[in-house]
Amino acid sequence: MGESKENLLIFGATGYIGAYILREILKNKDSFGRIAIITSPGTAENKSEQLQNLKSEGVEVFVGDVTNPTDVLNAFKVISTVGRNVLAEQINWIQLAESIPSVTRFFPSEYGTDIDYNPQSVHEIPHQLKIKVRAALKATSSLNYTYVVTGPYADGQMLAYLSALAESARVIGTYDVKAKSATLIEDGKGKISFTTPKECSVGKLVVKALLYPEASNKRALKVNSFTTTPADIVAEFEKQTGDKWTVTYTSLAQLKELEAAAWENKAPLAPIYTLRRIWAEGGTLYVKRDNSLIDAEDNMETLADAVRDAIITQRSGTQATDTRKLA
Ligand SMILES: NC(=O)c1ccc[n+]([C@@H]2O[C@H](COP(=O)([O-])OP(=O)(O)OC[C@H]3O[C@@H](n4cnc5c(N)ncnc54)[C@H](OP(=O)(O)O)[C@@H]3O)[C@@H](O)[C@H]2O)c1
Repeated sequence: MGESKENLLIFGATGYIGAYILREILKNKDSFGRIAIITSPGTAENKSEQLQNLKSEGVEVFVGDVTNPTDVLNAFKVISTVGRNVLAEQINWIQLAESIPSVTRFFPSEYGTDIDYNPQSVHEIPHQLKIKVRAALKATSSLNYTYVVTGPYADGQMLAYLSALAESARVIGTYDVKAKSATLIEDGKGKISFTTPKECSVGKLVVKALLYPEASNKRALKVNSFTTTPADIVAEFEKQTGDKWTVTYTSLAQLKELEAAAWENKAPLAPIYTLRRIWAEGGTLYVKRDNSLIDAEDNMETLADAVRDAIITQRSGTQATDTRKLA
């Protein structure tokens, strides 16, 4: 076990994945020192109740301009879970962090697809900002860093892998609990490795990475909850809903054409088309996952857990519709 009682500062902690990560950090708060978040004035106003609850759990809440977090950075380890819209801002934080001796570790906002999977990865449009952030970290001399690479989320939230997509987007792959139908890419038999965000597999993996610094420093940690195929996902939905589902297929070639058109038309979902194609091509599969390096091999959620949660999410109709929820 590595050093403990680190002071943690989290950017983006009220967002989709940040909230799950913070929840798991709080479950393990005895392992850490101060736990703080920095949030924008807009969020401080719109999510005041959520912030009040966090304060009552001992979280320090800094409201500020995320373009200039100098004072706040002092004395913390930094975990960033910011959304894709503000990924580039992290480069300023990294440079600031390097100038503050007490900041020794930085977790950039990754939590998704491996942006260094193969020689083609460097050309993928959705990876570009994360690639620049990694370069900024590599250029520092005093900071340690960890890229937590989780693969896609097995989640029923809108636009996540187990969600029911709008009619116009179903062709890129969907699982619709109400319609009992699914669209799979190619023959649906290609393996994909997933991480569950609910019940905090993502959070658990980040906490473990924090607690095992020797194993996770200056590297990508390629971790996940389980590996399965889209066809097996349908089978699990059929088992849990008790009905046969209607399944249609989109070829990889067709997905690539749709992806090109989406970028051409500057469609907001273009990054999702690309990520779906990368996942269908096997871009989340590794000879060996890194869970064992951080003592996270056991008690990961299963396909059955993820499908159960997706059914609840879809039936409750509470899926977020924010188009920032891009993988
Ligand atoms: N593997 C997957 O399937 C998957 C799925 C989704 C996301 N991800 C990855 O997870 C990471 C976090 O994504 P997310 O969906 O959780 O993010 P998000 O909910 O869209 O945003 C997280 C936080 O970032 C800050 N933020 C976002 N947009 C902003 C803007 N325009 N201006 C200022 N602040 C802004 C906000 O912080 P405050 O409100 O506190 O100021 C927000 O709560 C990303 O790196 C993303 O690529 C992966």
